[in-house]
Amino acid sequence: MRGGIFILSGAGLSAESGLKTFRAEDGLWEDHRVEDVATPEAFVRDPALVQRFYNARRAGVAAAHPNAAHVALAHLQATYDAPVHLVTQNIDDLLERAGATDVIHMHGEVTSALCGACGHRWPAPVEMAVGACCPACDAPTARPDIVWFGEIPYHMDRIHAALEASDLFVALGTSGNVYPAAGFRQLAQQSGIRTLELNLAASGVPFDEVREGAASDVVPAWVAEVLAS
Ligand code: APR
Repeated sequence: MRGGIFILSGAGLSAESGLKTFRAEDGLWEDHRVEDVATPEAFVRDPALVQRFYNARRAGVAAAHPNAAHVALAHLQATYDAPVHLVTQNIDDLLERAGATDVIHMHGEVTSALCGACGHRWPAPVEMAVGACCPACDAPTARPDIVWFGEIPYHMDRIHAALEASDLFVALGTSGNVYPAAGFRQLAQQSGIRTLELNLAASGVPFDEVREGAASDVVPAWVAEVLAS
């Protein structure tokens, strides 16, 4: 049986669903650099600001809809005759709402809440309040289940195992700015795995193949080609 396909997606996958990318606009939110809002220190310094930031993103995700690229990836995963590992830096649930399964959210999920004290996870309310209590340990330590700058991304062992078991690495709609995700391409190339970039504009990082265009155009065309091969 041939190896699987490892697809690392970034904000460009959900851009046409109306969800902002990180580095396209000036990267500010309510006059704060995103990097200054999405950190453990920011949550200690101003928990109301951080909760407001994620409440706004959670509402944006709820109002968004999967685009043709999400649908194509879910179809590929359901149809391809080898595993399709959907690893995403995105915190939205649009791949799942398009029918994808086992999506690996290495930066967490805005639809999930986490207890900073006991580690319990539960579905996040649309509006998470400052000092909300954990339903398991009752401590007032509920936080967005997001991997903030300076924290360790989730599921790294699963991600490395999936990459080793694949014979194609695809970077989809990501600028390749943030490690460890940005390092997966190199790992793939060191393991002799073919690498493909699907992006609105080439990120300039060396891939074996680059296809430029909007995800909702490029991804369905690429999936159709893969399934026909
Ligand atoms: N179709 C395809 N690609 C697109 C589209 C589109 N319609 N629109 C934008 N892009 C591409 C851009 O060319 C860029 O390469 O999406 C990428 C967005 O890059 P970033 O904004 O840096 O987002 P991402 O790569 O996901 O950021 C990674 O950084 O801020 C942290 O944790 C955050 O997960 C995020 C991580």
